[in-house]
Amino acid sequence: MPDKMPFHDLSPRCSFSMSTNDFLPNADLAASEAPDARGTFCVSTDGRNRQSADDWRLCVAPMIDVTDRHTRYLHRLIAPRARVYTEMITTGALLHGDLARHLDFNPQEHPVALQLGGSDPADLAHGARLGARWGYDEINLNCGCPSERVQKGAFGACLMADPGLVADCVKAMRDAVDIPVTVKHRLGLDYDTSYGFVRDFVGTVYDAGCRIFVVHARNAVLKGLSPKDNRDVPPLRYDDAARLKVDFPDALVILNGGLTSAAMCESALRNFDGVMLGRAAWHDPALLGTLSDALWPELVRIGETQLIETFTAYAAVQMSQGVPLHIIVRGLLGLFAGRKGARIWRQKLSDSKLLRRSAATLIIDAWRELGSTPA
Ligand SMILES: Cc1cc2nc3c(=O)[nH]c(=O)nc-3n(C[C@H](O)[C@H](O)[C@H](O)COP(=O)(O)O)c2cc1C
Repeated sequence: MPDKMPFHDLSPRCSFSMSTNDFLPNADLAASEAPDARGTFCVSTDGRNRQSADDWRLCVAPMIDVTDRHTRYLHRLIAPRARVYTEMITTGALLHGDLARHLDFNPQEHPVALQLGGSDPADLAHGARLGARWGYDEINLNCGCPSERVQKGAFGACLMADPGLVADCVKAMRDAVDIPVTVKHRLGLDYDTSYGFVRDFVGTVYDAGCRIFVVHARNAVLKGLSPKDNRDVPPLRYDDAARLKVDFPDALVILNGGLTSAAMCESALRNFDGVMLGRAAWHDPALLGTLSDALWPELVRIGETQLIETFTAYAAVQMSQGVPLHIIVRGLLGLFAGRKGARIWRQKLSDSKLLRRSAATLIIDAWRELGSTPA
């Protein structure tokens, strides 16, 4: 994998345009699973819509309070073909809440997946239908979140104990929409580390028609570990995740959990169809640019100046619509991780008083200051 700098080697000649992305939404995953001419997994051959395995090569994980539409927009600017996921939205929120607030996204975000949390097949079908109507490209079911709140609602990771119910949920959602319905799950529950558990889980859901699995490659411990500890303490078992790809060769298996560098992703992509980055994309979004260059060297990406200017213009529009600046800039904080002056950048963009009284141009000002910080 080339060791390119995320932004600096990209000059202003770069003009990013979504039209360079040949992605078209609303593919019918069920329509065809035959390999296409290049031997890749071809999801649809109806001539109208088409998603291929390539569309899941680089994914940004769903993260509550992180991957809102502003951060997703930023990630899109950095990595034109990465697949971005929403924060988990519960079926309850979609039944009783403000739909536009939960579902609206920027058209530039495509390909963008809606992650649902729930366990009632009819409610999930309803949520999936709304997601498809809103224009999402994929509906993903959360079977990996271990929080107590989620367990009370009997969804998230505890669903892995009832693969038959997950199969019913997937079937109901697939019947409701013609976009891919995918599942994000763990390898097991509590301290059961037998591979057979996840193989049978995936097998049951596969039989219900699911062909795309995002595997957070560790167990979820339902009692005694916080959600944060559940992302670190249970050991990663990439080998068991890779066995799923061997046992379900015509499914796409996307690896998630603990991927923090381009080299790790490169290695994972030898055994998996894609990688999904969570905290690494949050703490160091520029890594998405490095990965984008490695995966799709033909893609023209915007340079740093254009990135900052474009995001600032975006922020100004959002502010004019009433979105507070501190919400819009959250995803930017890690942008210059490891670079001289990054601490000042972070401080400026997280200073609540400053953010309250500033215009969007605070972003450009903070960036100029970073540029003038002596190396
Ligand atoms: C702040 C935060 C919020 C998260 N929210 C969700 C969520 O809404 N849905 C979900 O499936 N996983 C959620 N996760 C888990 C991530 O999607 C991912 O599976 C996990 O962080 C492991 O990947 P990583 O090691 O690349 O971070 C969250 C993780 C973090 C750090």
